[in-house]
Amino acid sequence: MSLITFLDLKTLGDERGHLVVLENNKNIPFDVKRVYYLTDTQPGVPRGFHAHKELVQVAVCVSGRCLMKMDDGINQEEVWLDAPNKAIIIDKMIWHEMHDFSQHCVLLVLASDFYDEADYIREYSSFLEIIKHA
Ligand code: TYD
Repeated sequence: MSLITFLDLKTLGDERGHLVVLENNKNIPFDVKRVYYLTDTQPGVPRGFHAHKELVQVAVCVSGRCLMKMDDGINQEEVWLDAPNKAIIIDKMIWHEMHDFSQHCVLLVLASDFYDEADYIREYSSFLEIIKHA
């Protein structure tokens, strides 16, 4: 089974430009409780490097691009987020890293819950241990 699940997003729009819609429990498979975005990521700086115990997220570059690397403890896959209609699900217990941010990249993330540091697994070795005993 692929680690990469794309959301079914339609690009609406006309000669004026593009418009993409995200709706709770419709094309977003959860109730969105938090939205955050990463901007001005410095050249060569990767981010992420964690998994979540319960949190589910959707990620999309609304501008620019970055390389999303995902890992379930057994398989690794990567995907370029390089279009505003190319949103992916970051499921719980998926180690994820974002690399190669383009200049002016805006990475938008929708999350199924509020920020909770206790939900983070920030050590890759701990992530593998938890996977092993799951
Ligand atoms: P961090 O998890 O290190 O970012 P990333 O994994 O994308 O590299 O988050 C950076 C800081 O922001 C860290 O101190 C936690 C804080 N933070 C919040 O307070 N609320 C949030 O919703 C998020 C995502 C992070």
